[in-house]
Amino acid sequence: MSGIEDSTPEELAARIGEVYQEVTKYAPGKAGRIGPRERNPGPYKDYPDAKRISLPEPQRDLGAGLWGLLEKRRSRRDFSDEPMTLNELSQLLWAGQGVTCERHGFQFRTAPSAGALYPCETYVFVHLVEGLQRGLYHYPVRRHEIELVKSGDYRAGLAEACLGQEMAGTCAAAFAWTGVIPRCRSKYAQRAYRYAYLDAGHIAQNLFLAAEALDLGCCNIGALFDDQVNALLDVDGRDETILYIAVTGR
Ligand SMILES: Cc1cc2nc3c(=O)[nH]c(=O)nc-3n(C[C@H](O)[C@H](O)[C@H](O)COP(=O)(O)O)c2cc1C
Repeated sequence: MSGIEDSTPEELAARIGEVYQEVTKYAPGKAGRIGPRERNPGPYKDYPDAKRISLPEPQRDLGAGLWGLLEKRRSRRDFSDEPMTLNELSQLLWAGQGVTCERHGFQFRTAPSAGALYPCETYVFVHLVEGLQRGLYHYPVRRHEIELVKSGDYRAGLAEACLGQEMAGTCAAAFAWTGVIPRCRSKYAQRAYRYAYLDAGHIAQNLFLAAEALDLGCCNIGALFDDQVNALLDVDGRDETILYIAVTGR
């Protein structure tokens, strides 16, 4: 790409996407680290003082087969005020990122991850789930349970943070995936951002197909005010930042 070296910061900012794509390309003879080495903080985040709610064991034989689900999958944005069950929430969380096997010191999951570094954390804004108080929860993958990060009614706040998209407030549960970027930068340096977003896409599609299998509606959200969502999640927006949201409900 011509002219990167001669560009002013303003000129670089105006085409930051192209610059990022170019600078982080692998090519024969150039497939190494771009940027400094970093410590990996490890693949798990926990809220040790949070109230923990165990989830029902996920069932592996629910709903239609894969081919029918692929055919049926459609974004759905209108939700009734019928609550989601805890079983359904459990299935969705497990489908997204549940641990399926342990090997060579890794906990492999339902979704693939570049280098098995698992940069994504799963949070869920519970608006209407049977037996759960409204609030923000975190899914600690190594234990199939949820941790109550903070209780509260986030329907209006989340809708506003999603550029006013009402479905973020009218759904039963909104899943938010962050990237803990240093996990991925520890190996891939600046190329890490590509992989964190790809990982989130895999997780979101798993959850989408699981929602179809449960006859629930689902829609992804990429149009969001990053730092408003980061503030709701209490993450710093740099080392851990929102990547993607999916809303689900009946
Ligand atoms: C990365 C991504 C971001 C999206 N963001 C939004 C969004 O913010 N709001 C919305 O209503 N739909 C959003 N969608 C849903 C798309 O509009 C939808 O997938 C597209 O119209 C195709 O329809 P289908 O999903 O029913 O096949 C998003 C989808 C993707 C993959």
